[in-house]
Amino acid sequence: MADAPANSQHPFHLSWFLNYGVDEWNDPWASGGQNLDGTFYVDVARMLERAGFDFVLIEDKVAISETYGGTRAHDLKHALAPKLDPAPLATLIAAATERIGIVPTLSTSFYPPYMLARLTSTIDHISHGRAGWNIVTSGEDLAARNFGLDALDEHDHRYERAEEYVELAKQLWDSWEPDAIIRNRDSNTYADASKVRTIDFEGEFHRSRGPLNTSRSPQGRPVLCQAGASPRGRAFAARHADVIVAVAVSPEEMREFRDDIRARVASEGRDPDSCKVLFIVAPIIADTMDEAKARQDRLLDNPEFAERVLVMISSISGVDFSQFDLDAPVPEEVRTNGERGSLAQWLRKGAGKTLREHARRGLDDGVELVGTAAHVAERMGEVMEIAGGDGFLITSPVNRLNRRYVVEITEGLVPELQRRGLCRTEYASPLFRDNLLAF
Ligand SMILES: Cc1cc2nc3c(=O)[nH]c(=O)nc-3n(C[C@H](O)[C@H](O)[C@H](O)COP(=O)(O)O)c2cc1C
Repeated sequence: MADAPANSQHPFHLSWFLNYGVDEWNDPWASGGQNLDGTFYVDVARMLERAGFDFVLIEDKVAISETYGGTRAHDLKHALAPKLDPAPLATLIAAATERIGIVPTLSTSFYPPYMLARLTSTIDHISHGRAGWNIVTSGEDLAARNFGLDALDEHDHRYERAEEYVELAKQLWDSWEPDAIIRNRDSNTYADASKVRTIDFEGEFHRSRGPLNTSRSPQGRPVLCQAGASPRGRAFAARHADVIVAVAVSPEEMREFRDDIRARVASEGRDPDSCKVLFIVAPIIADTMDEAKARQDRLLDNPEFAERVLVMISSISGVDFSQFDLDAPVPEEVRTNGERGSLAQWLRKGAGKTLREHARRGLDDGVELVGTAAHVAERMGEVMEIAGGDGFLITSPVNRLNRRYVVEITEGLVPELQRRGLCRTEYASPLFRDNLLAF
């Protein structure tokens, strides 16, 4: 095969959106939804690492939704539960890999800050500097009730609390200075007590004395990842995030979002290049264009798929979509105290369609990428050129996974991207943050 033309574009980053629940369990390529011991996801992470992915993001929710139709039956039918704790999986992946970053999702609404700072510091130690934290504020009242609260805080107020939470966590991570551990055999002293300090944090919502009783971790603190899309969420992300994951349905929308984030990051006094923006996509790849199109049609024509999409958007937004007529236009605006940005985005995308038609198109799969590996690689390059950077968050089209899909990406798509100079062929550093900021 002839070499692809040299490309003047910068390479972009690749990451993967993983759901530690049931893999695809009921189609011919599925493994039956039995493997909740994490080994399947460890295999996936190793495949992604061989392909040079920056990180794997492990999503999380802490309740089984009952939004769609007022019952948990639909969520259970569509295997949106079970969902297992991402932190132990992160350590399993860490032990089985050497370079890929690992980003568990942990909620500021429910974890005590000290516990979270200690947990993520520990994962950074176990992974030798590859831990991240996907900062979410959570969007479900049922989750709040699982933690003994009556309901979630109001949307923007959750971000106020999160703001203070992250400030506190940063102080805890910094409570050990980089040179605190001296291991002085002459004085039989392990650590210099003058370099391990209380923080005495007294906020409006959180208090902690410190210091952290883990030592400073290889990266100092985990890579901070965030996905807020509302104005308040973006402001929060611009202050704290090393990487933002986002949904956008066109290259122009991607550019607009990224430009907005970069301006906000700069106005916080930060270098805009220190915060990467990655956009979700769900490529469908086959040996020919026709085959890829046919696969997409088969997927979308399945009526179970449309129902699954409505159950998912209900769960995310807290709005019961079973109340709407499937053959009426997608509602223009629906109020929610849940994930505002995600809902607004989905509704906007559905303008001019009926709910049935729109649900058939999927949930948050971003810019459409359907075709041969070479075609999709080419298209990803074009899209990134318009967006301005920084990369993609890949997810499987139905948000359920089998090994075949991962192989199509890692052994089919990635080599095509590499030939075009669009993604890395090797890691520059053992540390996740260094790799993320390398280009
Ligand atoms: C790619 C992506 C992944 C997300 N993963 C999670 C998650 O694992 N858990 C969660 O509670 N929220 C998750 N969210 C929701 C975000 O944390 C946030 O609530 C959402 O983007 C809406 O932001 P907004 O409330 O600022 O509009 C995710 C969002 C996106 C776009």
